[in-house]
Amino acid sequence: MDKNKKQRSWAEPYKIKMVEPVRISTFEERKKAIEAAGYNTFLLRSRDVYIDLLTDSGTSAMSDRQWAGMMMGDEAYAGSENFYHLERKVRRFYGYKYIVPTHQGRAAEHIISQIMIKKGDYIPGNMYFTTTKLHQELAGGTFVDVVIDEAHDPDNEHPFKANVDLDKLETLIIEKGADRIPYVSIATSVNMAGGQPISMENLKQVRELTQNYGIPIIHDMTRVAENAFFIKQREKGYGDKPVREIVSEICCLTDGATMSAKKDALVNIGGFLALNDKELFKKACNMVVIYEGLHTYGGLAGRDMEAMAIGITESVDEDHIKARVGQVEYLGKKLIDMGIPIVLPIGSHGVFLNASKILSHLSQDKLPAQTLAAELYLDAGIRAMERGVVSAGRNPETGEHNYPALELVRLTIPRRVYTQAHLDVVAESVEAVYENREAITGLEFTYEPEHLRFFQSRFQKIE
Ligand code: F0G
Repeated sequence: MDKNKKQRSWAEPYKIKMVEPVRISTFEERKKAIEAAGYNTFLLRSRDVYIDLLTDSGTSAMSDRQWAGMMMGDEAYAGSENFYHLERKVRRFYGYKYIVPTHQGRAAEHIISQIMIKKGDYIPGNMYFTTTKLHQELAGGTFVDVVIDEAHDPDNEHPFKANVDLDKLETLIIEKGADRIPYVSIATSVNMAGGQPISMENLKQVRELTQNYGIPIIHDMTRVAENAFFIKQREKGYGDKPVREIVSEICCLTDGATMSAKKDALVNIGGFLALNDKELFKKACNMVVIYEGLHTYGGLAGRDMEAMAIGITESVDEDHIKARVGQVEYLGKKLIDMGIPIVLPIGSHGVFLNASKILSHLSQDKLPAQTLAAELYLDAGIRAMERGVVSAGRNPETGEHNYPALELVRLTIPRRVYTQAHLDVVAESVEAVYENREAITGLEFTYEPEHLRFFQSRFQKIE
């Protein structure tokens, strides 16, 4: 083999300066804990968790620079310096003109939905996200999925599973009329599809199509840097482009964005709504003051905005993003080698176990993904998240369960938090549960709240 071509190992572009001890529990302790939590991993106490892969949201390790920035918090009620720093960063890296900070992503979704959606409107998007769709519905709209069919097939290895099916989109526009579509909702790195990217080519086509009908695009940019990294790796012409330029190119093809900065932007709390239209921005300022706080802090402390401003720069650093997505790939490849069915291609923020296949003896009514998440916790104290029928909720009109094609368990990797050794422990635990899969029985609801039921529902074992 050519010596220069030999595959070399890479390591994280940081070293550890502070540690947080975690506790390794016994099987008996975990059994008690998961029963007390009604078999819902959201209801476990974090002290009972060994490796926490519930979410990558707000769970990142901040850098020393971000912590230093926290000390520079300008805690003025109005016009904090940190707000202006954040505003400069959003303009420089994302190119949006106006920003309204919010306490997290869903607050931005609330505001944009209330100011743009009228009763009876339709909002097409590249697959739903739980909070995004709910806010669209609460504003009187109906979400319509226009993602390509491949996105709903966990085994399909399409490199850009978050692409929009242009025919589905145009058919909807013609059928409902452009005036009933306030915007198209485009997410980068689509969470519910397994952390899958949209291509620049497809986004440009969506832009062209929607411009013909005068329909704006609102971008869910929660994991835009991760999407940009996949474009760099997979799309022709982008191999040598810096991720930060790809990010900016994506944003420039859209008219506004909602951001949960708890993901890409490496903070524990924070988000924003970004807009290019001044009139909409004025409306958003008017709403934010009712629900979040003044338009220069939107529910955040000055120090939170400072950490976010610094995190935005770090999020598009080449070494950072390569290691971030690389860690997820490391776990994914290990599971593939073990023969575990996962969503392909491996996603950007987590590995998604295909619960329908792993627990193929359980029908969707028996909540296979919810069951698998509980079993993983029982095995080694690893906390994962259900992304299947429980997350999909009920149809507001019929009251029936929505049955999504994807019945998944997400092993979400927090940024800069765990080592490769942690991921080895996770893979071995998944393998152990997989080997014992036939003995696993399903779950049924004992309590179900009206909205976003996956967060607070309780379950019991079907014996
Ligand atoms: N959009 C996407 C794609 C998300 O993944 C999330 C949150 C939000 C919007 C809402 O942002 O939590 O700051 O209000 N996702 C988290 C997760 C909860 O675990 O995937 P938020």
